[in-house]
This record gives sequence, C-alpha cells and structure tokens, in this order.
Amino acid sequence: MRILIVGNGGREHALVWKAKRSPLVKKVYCAPGNAGIYQDAECVEISSANHAELLRFAIKEKIDLTVVGPEAPLVNGLVDLFDENGVPIFGPNRRAAELEGSKAFCKYVLNKYDIPTAEFIVFDDYEKAKSFLQQHKGSIVVKADGLAAGKGVFICHDVEESLNALHKIMRDNEFGDAGRKIVFEERLVGDEVSIMVIADGENYVLLAPAQDHKRIFDNDMGPNTGGMGAFAPTPHISQEAMAQICHEIIEPTIKGMALEGRPYKGVLYAGLMLTAKGPKVLEFNARFGDPETQAVLPLAESDLIETMLAAADGKLAGVQWKNSRDAAVCVVIASGGYPGEFEKGKKILGLDHSWDDGVFVFHAGTKRHGNDIVTSGGRVLGVTAVDSTILRAIDKVYKAIKWITFDGAYYRRDIAARALRQLR
Ligand code: AMP
Ligand code: GLY
Repeated sequence: MRILIVGNGGREHALVWKAKRSPLVKKVYCAPGNAGIYQDAECVEISSANHAELLRFAIKEKIDLTVVGPEAPLVNGLVDLFDENGVPIFGPNRRAAELEGSKAFCKYVLNKYDIPTAEFIVFDDYEKAKSFLQQHKGSIVVKADGLAAGKGVFICHDVEESLNALHKIMRDNEFGDAGRKIVFEERLVGDEVSIMVIADGENYVLLAPAQDHKRIFDNDMGPNTGGMGAFAPTPHISQEAMAQICHEIIEPTIKGMALEGRPYKGVLYAGLMLTAKGPKVLEFNARFGDPETQAVLPLAESDLIETMLAAADGKLAGVQWKNSRDAAVCVVIASGGYPGEFEKGKKILGLDHSWDDGVFVFHAGTKRHGNDIVTSGGRVLGVTAVDSTILRAIDKVYKAIKWITFDGAYYRRDIAARALRQLR
C-alpha cells in the first residue's frame, strides 16, 4: 500500500515511523514533512492547507490511505473533499471535526448527551459576556470558541483577569474569527489525562492513556506550550477508571455524534481532568495529540494502518488494539525562548548517534540546510525511550537526550516525574 501522511511535526514523524512498520505498507509519503521525516519517507512540498493539491497528489500517486495529522485541514474540510472524490482518507469530516473546531459545539454535545464536563455558559455578545463576568467573583476559565493553537484558554483568578481575557478574545480579536463566540467554564482541579481512541463512526479501539506536560518549566511553572513531553501509560488510572471513562465519556460521545448526523470517524482525543467527582471532559481534539502520540505509538503492537483502514471503512467491530507492557517517555527539545520568541537556523549536533534499542528521535521543527539539519520551529525534536518500567524509560530518555545539542536547546528535566509520584 501507498500511504500519505499530512503534516510536519513530531506527531507526523511518529505516524510515518509506525506506518513504515506495517507489513501492508510499501511506500510512505509525507506532505510537507521535515528533516527527520525526510529520512523515513518521501517528502512532497505540499502544505497541509493546500487541499486541492493534496487531492491531486493522492489521485496521481494512487495513495491507498491519506492520514491527516493536524486539526486545521480537518476542521476546514480536507476529508470532505477526499470523500466527495472517492479517495480514501482517515480522519473526521468537517462537521465531525467541529468537536475540536468549536468549543461551544463541543459543550452542546457534552451537555445534550449528559457527558461529565465543567459547568459552562456561551456568549456571542461582548456586552452580555462582560456583565456576566462582572457579577462572577472567584476563578473562571475563559475560552475562545474556535481553533487557537492551544493559546485561546485563560485560567482567570479574579474579575480583572477574566475581563482582560474577554477583551483579548472579543475586542482585540487576537484569535480572529475563533473569538466570535466565547465560553466561560467552571475551573476544575485534578490530574489531566489524554485518552485517544480510533473510531469508525460506531465502534472504537482505545490507545494507551497518556499524560502531557503543557507548561514550559519544571514543576509545571511558566506559560503553556504545545506540550513539552509525555508519558504512557498512566500508572494512576485503574482499569475500573478506564472502564468508567469509556462508558461515561467515549461511548456516549460517539453515539451522540452519530445521533447528531455527524458520525465520528478518525482519532477522537479526549482531554480529561480526573476530579474528585470523577473524570470530566476539558476538551476534545479531532486528531492525534502531540507529543502524546510520540509516546503512545511506540507502545503499540497492533498495526496502525490496518486499524485505520478498518476505521475508514466502518469495520472496527471486533478489532483489537494491543499495547506492549512497556512504558514510554517522550521529552521535547525546544528552541530557547519558546513559547515566546526564539531564533531559528541553529545547527543540530548528535543526531547521528547510534541509539540504544527503544530510543526514537522524532523531528518536529527541523529542516535540511546543505548537509546539516537546523532548527526551524519552537518544538524541535521529541526523544522517546521505551523500557520495561517508567523509571527505566525516564533514565534512558535523559541519557539519550544528552547526545543532542544546539545553540539554545531547552528541555524539561522532570518529564514523567509525576508518573513516579502517582505510582507511589
Ligand atoms: P483546552 O484547550 O480546553 O483543553 O484547555 C487547555 C488547558 O487549559 C487544559 O489542558 C487545562 O490544563 C486547562 N483547562 C481547560 N479547561 C479547564 C477547566 N475547566 N478547569 C481547569 N483547567 C482547565
Ligand atoms: N498535547 C495536546 C494536544 O495535542 O492538543
């Protein structure tokens, strides 16, 4: 089979790596890819926003399955375009991807199908939203409705902060059209977990549960990022809790979307908070999480491509997903200054090291420059180690990461330390 992966980050490198291990797969393309993906797949210079060109390429190269990495092409209808042309693709269509594309729609579904989530209220009028906030003392979470690359969420501690967030979203238009509506939410407390399933509209398989590390500094200090590291599986979630998550959250969401006439095919990512009153939904994503996927896929024993083909065909019933019994830890190396301003074009050294078994170096913001590989983004690399225990995986990943250097390279020193605390 010939596979096309769409995207250019660490998640897409992990998808390419896993696709190549499928006995069904003869050739993997990636559009547009990065310097690491270039070593594992044939990269084609088509942006993930250029839907017409992606379709033309998939038809011309007789691609058997296209897999979409990032959310924007899903929310903007790439899957619909392929479907209309009878070209096989894996991912939710535009109406299903709205679960990520609109937080107001997500809340509507959660509320209608009685799925546990934070109390909320939605506004599309600035003045009404403002007078609501003025009467609301204490903390509140303020969210832009649409896609904002993870930056549209503000945890506010008082009225001044929440009014500022509202102003940024609806008056300064920092997120453009994504700020036409606004969601206010009750603040939840607890541990976060990322649950990813592959769904066929009706049935699903569950991938290994993972935990992300969103803040830039150790001990979860500093601003939010796209994710600075992840581990899987999560030792603190019991089998009973997983069953509860499936019955109370995943299944009613898939059923509810079918009832809404928006059957959900693709990866459904549930960002959950494990509160004292049970697991509650913070958000849904319509795609694989990044960096979670860089920890979750190296644990998978099942064939990802076979599973995705079954999902795309609506034939997941009876399909099993198997994980190894190992643990995986992924540590992201970022450019100094990220998530604020940072410089690009720094030469990366140490990539040609001969890695121990179970060490994988996934590229995110890298590009080729002559014979060198240089930095080209905020999150540059994800180094994943797999071992029999989480403690061993932590040890292995931090030994490996020392081999890689570039000017300004930064990574957290405490990825998965939380998993050890949870184990205790
Ligand atoms: P979201 O994009 O909605 O998942 O929000 C991004 C991050 O903001 C989440 O991963 C949480 O860390 C935090 N967050 C979102 N909603 C809430 C909430 N209701 N209570 C507390 N933290 C939240
Ligand atoms: N790691 C969070 C996300 O992919 O949205």
